[in-house]
Amino acid sequence: MPVSFGRDTQSSIYRDGATGRAPVVPVGWGDLERAAKRAMSTAAWAYVAGSSGSEVTAANNRRALDRWSIVPRVLRDVSERDLSVEIFGHRYPSPVIAAPVGVLELVHRDADLGIARAASSLGIPYVLSSQASVPMEKVALAMGGSPRWFQLYWSSSDDLVASFVERAENSDAQAIVVTLDTHMLGWRPRDLDVAYLPFIHGQGIAQYTSDPVFRQLVAERVANPAPPASKPRITAATVRTLLDMTRNYPGGTLRSAEPRAAVETFLDVFSRSSLTWANLSFLRERTSLPILLKGIQHPDDAALALDHGIDGIVVSNHAGRQIDGAIGSLDALPAIAERVGGRMPVLFDSGVRSGSDVFKALALGATAVLVGRPYAYGLAVAGSAGAEAVLRNIIAEFDLVLGLSGHRSAAELGIDSVTRAG
Ligand code: GLV
Repeated sequence: MPVSFGRDTQSSIYRDGATGRAPVVPVGWGDLERAAKRAMSTAAWAYVAGSSGSEVTAANNRRALDRWSIVPRVLRDVSERDLSVEIFGHRYPSPVIAAPVGVLELVHRDADLGIARAASSLGIPYVLSSQASVPMEKVALAMGGSPRWFQLYWSSSDDLVASFVERAENSDAQAIVVTLDTHMLGWRPRDLDVAYLPFIHGQGIAQYTSDPVFRQLVAERVANPAPPASKPRITAATVRTLLDMTRNYPGGTLRSAEPRAAVETFLDVFSRSSLTWANLSFLRERTSLPILLKGIQHPDDAALALDHGIDGIVVSNHAGRQIDGAIGSLDALPAIAERVGGRMPVLFDSGVRSGSDVFKALALGATAVLVGRPYAYGLAVAGSAGAEAVLRNIIAEFDLVLGLSGHRSAAELGIDSVTRAG
């Protein structure tokens, strides 16, 4: 990134304004949120914006970030700033990483491809989701040489896990991120109230329907159909769901059994609640890529990750989407970073909305920060350009906050750069 990424971004917005052009997406969080809500269907908004239960964890994520305050220093030469960070031997231009977000087709027709283009034009890593709307090979192609990682939901089928990992390696992923906090979906009232789960409509399962192992499982199910538990009610909605499933299954027709079998197979094999630390060796034996565990909130789990030869962790509570009434993710970070003691990268997510949030996470021990909902909102409002603008704005603000607080690089940030408010 140029030495003055923040100022360049800021001045291009002001210059555009002088010629009558408004920013691509609202810059302020509240306006961005409102614009995204207007751009999405009710069900899409429920899925993307919703969190679990009474959404206390999502609020705790914000509270945890707001409880810390930045302590500026002055009269230091900060005219040249370096935003880059190094992770697993790769130098990335900023500490911001595009988080894995599933079912982006709910948000915009360009879905994962929109984010892939946004991330590549900024040169920041994009963590491709297991629950993607576009197969990873297609996304990788759209990204060219730009960095990507792959996020894995550990299926109940070992063969499928191995196949996903092999495809990720062939797609030039630089790391595998195993999400551990979503082996079952959390209790999400907004989704339950509209009674809409995208996967049942065949949405967000493109990694599966493009996978040879998964397609074999589907073929076996079609060849040996299980007797239906109960006869489905045939209503207009049933027909619409069947049409959705068919449209979302490559090569599916209304006469073929595969689209429905694919959804049922997905629901069967999506995840494994019996997974334990002992299973991690299976992954280690199948890939030489760095492995990160996502969903760590306790220092003992961070220590166990180190004991099991894991390469990095993501301190995350899935942006409050899983357990209601849980600790704010940033509240978990300092003790975890202390326990890790620099022995592996500690990434952070959940609740990050701005460059100053990125600053606080780095000051409290994060190596880099994953951003999810904000770019999804940008995608909803203005497609790939909107997602790019949101990510750019966050990085630009980070750069300005870094310089204005008397720092020249992400590496200079530490506990002395912040204080606990109140
Ligand atoms: C899946 O990752 C979800 O949070 O819905």
